[in-house]
Amino acid sequence: MKRRAVLAALSAAAAAGVLGSLVFLAIAWQTEIPAMAPPKLADFDAATIHRGAALVAIGDCVVCHTAERGPAFAGGRALETPFGTLYATNITPDQRTGIGNWSAAAFRRAMRDGVSRDGEHLYPALPYEHFTRVTDADLDAIYALLMTRGPVLQKTPENRLIPPLGFRPLLAGWKLLFLHEDPVLPVTGQSDEWNRGRYLVEGFGHCGGCHTPRNIAGSEERGKPFAGGIAEGWDAPPLNAANRTAHPWTVDAVYRYLRTGMDAEHGIANGPMGPVAHGLSGAPDDDVRSIAVYVASLLERDGPKAGSLPPVDREAEATREHPEGAALFAGACATCHGPGAPMMAQGRPSLSFVSALQADHPRNAVQAVVNGLPAAQAGRTALMPPFGDSLTSSQIGQITAYLRSRYSERQPWTALEDSVEEALNAKEQP
Ligand code: HEC
Ligand code: HEC
Ligand code: HEC
Repeated sequence: MKRRAVLAALSAAAAAGVLGSLVFLAIAWQTEIPAMAPPKLADFDAATIHRGAALVAIGDCVVCHTAERGPAFAGGRALETPFGTLYATNITPDQRTGIGNWSAAAFRRAMRDGVSRDGEHLYPALPYEHFTRVTDADLDAIYALLMTRGPVLQKTPENRLIPPLGFRPLLAGWKLLFLHEDPVLPVTGQSDEWNRGRYLVEGFGHCGGCHTPRNIAGSEERGKPFAGGIAEGWDAPPLNAANRTAHPWTVDAVYRYLRTGMDAEHGIANGPMGPVAHGLSGAPDDDVRSIAVYVASLLERDGPKAGSLPPVDREAEATREHPEGAALFAGACATCHGPGAPMMAQGRPSLSFVSALQADHPRNAVQAVVNGLPAAQAGRTALMPPFGDSLTSSQIGQITAYLRSRYSERQPWTALEDSVEEALNAKEQP
């Protein structure tokens, strides 16, 4: 190529680059919404605030926006993502460190478009992929609830993300690809309850945030809704016909599980599902029913009816296969889980009904043994101590292999050692 041609080509490429950057910046650019004087209690009516409280319980806002033992909504909780650590912000009406000077319009834009009041893009850890699908009236109700809480002065720690992801304008590109603003419209032919449940699950409940697999850019795979995902080192099981529980789910079973954190024929809501169920225990009863109606319709499959299935207990075979696991179980676990243990007489699920022991992957069973059942999640149920510090990794592996063999008819797990290492490493991190 002649020199002039090369120069021309180069400048054309540069021009295209500049143009591309300009177009990108134009998309990335979001204006600041002016600060305003904080609204007063009298600006909102009690019924709206009340509705806001119900939606906040379904949306888990407190779960993420509250640090351990910190004041509600004041932020500071660290969220570990594959891309680094993010901190949920202070959403109390404090003027300097919270959202005290945010208008309702600024709040709606943050929840729906993931843009902060000052025009900065927000990370999708705030589940705006879901919140973008809810109505204005519902967002305004949450705004009313938040603006009428006590302000808390508390600065949010700086995020620690792998470069260059700390550069927020990049999020504009992510949104262009993955953020779809499709409101949840009623489906004709389905009941009002089902439609209400779908609206809550797809919107505030953001159940797909954990139960739908994510692509490498961290976005939910829209083609595989509720096919099962990973959340904080736990498996969020599929909420469709691929679900592995011994008994198929019914509306009542889903309702009990969500409302009380336990269903005797499916087990316990542990790990990251614990706070979700805890939130739903304070949500309006008919909303939780509606969620159960919709979720049970997703989970529908053939199988033995609840109550018709005798518990699996292959004690002799399992003891032969895993003698060390059997001895450890007798010593450390049987006082609670063994036949005739007082706990079992109180309507607890047999371990053979617990989904963690039927799952394809040992992750949740190992997590349960390592971390137990924390008091905060046990609610009205009994506690289970963590065994991550008192048993060695090899003992945890032995016990879990024994549980699988004794309480399930499915094949042995292969990924057991890796799962134990992963769960123990995650526990050691601050
Ligand atoms: C899964 C955790 C999670 C849940 C659930 C969640 N948030 Fe957040 N939220 C975050 C994180 C993390 C950020 C900060 C994102 C960033 O720094 O870009 C955030 C940011 C925000 C912001 C922007 C604040 C600012 O100063 O820019 C608002 C407003 C907000 N959340 C409100 C809510 C409300 C209301 C709910 C419940 C309906 C909710 N969030 C539920 C994690 C969560
Ligand atoms: C923060 C992540 C997260 C969110 C959000 C979440 N889940 Fe879960 N869910 C989990 C995990 C993890 C488990 C497995 C718990 C266990 O094994 O103890 C689970 C378990 C379940 C189960 C039991 C499945 C089985 O096979 O045992 C149901 C039903 C369920 N979730 C429904 C929901 C619904 C409905 C929502 C929305 C209102 C929701 N989840 C939101 C993480 C989540
Ligand atoms: C002090 C009583 C107690 C002891 C000791 C105990 N557990 Fe538990 N365990 C519980 C309770 C309570 C639950 C939750 C209700 C249920 O599912 O039965 C539970 C649940 C489980 C689950 C199901 C978790 C889920 O996701 O549904 C597994 C698996 C389990 N325990 C294994 C063990 C093993 C293994 C040991 C011994 C190393 C052990 N437990 C010792 C009380 C105990």
